Amino acid sequence: MNTNEQLEHLKKLREEAKLGGGQARIDRQHAKGSMTARERIDLLLDNGSFEEFDMFKLHRCTDFGMENQKFLGDGVVTGHGTVDGRIVYVYAQDFTVLGGSLSETMAEKICKVMDLAMKNGAPVIGLGDSGGARIQEGIESLAGFSEIFQRNVMASGVVPQISAIFGPCAGGAVYSPALTDFVIMVQDQSYMFLTGPKVVKSVTHEDVTTEELGGAAMHSSKSGVSDYPATSGADAIEYIRRLLSFLPQNNLENPPVIPTEDPIVRSSAGLNALIPDNPNSAYDMKEVILQTVDNNDFFEIKANFAPNIIIGFARYGGVPVGIVANQPLHLSGVLDIDSSVKAARFVRFCDCFNIPVVTFVDVPGFLPGTAQEYGGVIRNGAKILYAYAEATIPKVTVITRKAYGGAYCVMSSKHLRGDINYAWPGAEIAVMGAKGASGVLHGKDARDSDDPKAFLAEKEKEYQGKVANPYVAAQRGYIDDIIEPANTRARIVRALGLLDNKRDTNPMKKHGNIPL
Ligand code: HXC
Repeated sequence: MNTNEQLEHLKKLREEAKLGGGQARIDRQHAKGSMTARERIDLLLDNGSFEEFDMFKLHRCTDFGMENQKFLGDGVVTGHGTVDGRIVYVYAQDFTVLGGSLSETMAEKICKVMDLAMKNGAPVIGLGDSGGARIQEGIESLAGFSEIFQRNVMASGVVPQISAIFGPCAGGAVYSPALTDFVIMVQDQSYMFLTGPKVVKSVTHEDVTTEELGGAAMHSSKSGVSDYPATSGADAIEYIRRLLSFLPQNNLENPPVIPTEDPIVRSSAGLNALIPDNPNSAYDMKEVILQTVDNNDFFEIKANFAPNIIIGFARYGGVPVGIVANQPLHLSGVLDIDSSVKAARFVRFCDCFNIPVVTFVDVPGFLPGTAQEYGGVIRNGAKILYAYAEATIPKVTVITRKAYGGAYCVMSSKHLRGDINYAWPGAEIAVMGAKGASGVLHGKDARDSDDPKAFLAEKEKEYQGKVANPYVAAQRGYIDDIIEPANTRARIVRALGLLDNKRDTNPMKKHGNIPL
């Protein structure tokens, strides 16, 4: 072949590879309302930035007639490109090639980009759409999955890993996304489960639909497996791009600062009137977040799961932070199993990647009851405690109202190396609420009195004035200052500036033993 012919040949092979499993299967993908793997990558990456690897790689299976079913690049498109000018490594399973099923070859392609991402310190983004292990390959496929799992674990805490599921994800295949930092699913299109509805029926006799068993809505609200139920494939991709804007490339970098026009000293007069007079009335903690962060812009994670705690990213004075906040609108902002696990994992993520954490506290305590105790609220509640205590990132805390009992200790208190701890003037910091405390301390005296109700009300008032306020904690230095709610933004921005060069370490060890 002369040079022209060689170039023509290369072009032809590239065109063939781009068709994956063929035009008919691409059409089928579109008919389902789905994009192809290449379309997803195009949408994710900056225009023209995609560089592909292993476009000509083929599987080596010769069983079950597989020698006649070869597609250039096999079932996954891999490579690198940029998102907002920053490098990311990406792989997208191609459902048009044997249902995106995972072959030995496909695993090798995925492992190659993961290895490069680790060496070069850039995020890995996996776009899943796969029928799981390639049945014709058997053990080779299982080995391939395991190689990916091993890399997921090695990459954890080194480079951000994000998974988005666009179609099926079943069997052991679910564990690769589960090992990554964020999992995004698409409503009505993607599902994740260990075994499908038919196997469930035969084993447990339960009748359940695919959507009920492993759909985006379920995993984003009940199991907590998914961080966001995207309304479409395009929405999922947009979410990934936004998420990346808050993250550093790797654990050795700081997250990207974006200068803001929003004045640092912008006061929010509305916050002075946010807390209701009745301590048992709820208010929306999201108001505190929205009114204080840059441009009122808050990127929430896991919004539908354990809504009694809020987590997400925002910026203060341009600096990305992770926000953790009790939400009085749901279960009075109580800590329970799900909210503890949700916040603990988030704090650990932020700590891995040098993202400061701002914590807003209004928590009446841990949720009592058999359901919580049987479910292990002790073990699971310990996770959030562990996460805050081991975190060495800057930690700024604002107690807006209640901080009771163990929940006070847990929520980034001074005692867990909270760096700057503020309270609003109406904060109640105590072992328990005034009502409960006076009942325990003065129950007998009340029964002996002429008017037990009035007696207890008096004692309650006394307790409230003496103990359940921010001044006792401030006298001890556990609260650095009592601040006017309207000035919260300025105080947080300044605190973060102060902590910009913070250095803190944990003792040398192989790793700690978080109560899993
Ligand atoms: C090989 C597969 C495949 C697989 C699908 N295909 N899954 N080929 N191995 N695992 C092929 C189909 O033969 C078909 O090929 C094409 O992909 C599209 O599949 P359809 O069935 O036509 O599509 P659809 O109706 O949308 O159904 C998708 C599906 C179904 C729900 C994923 O294909 C399915 O149930 N597949 C098997 C899923 C499974 O049991 N996987 C193993 C899980 S266990 P043609 O040529 O017709 O286009 C596992 C263990 C992992 O993954 C362990 C890790 C540790």
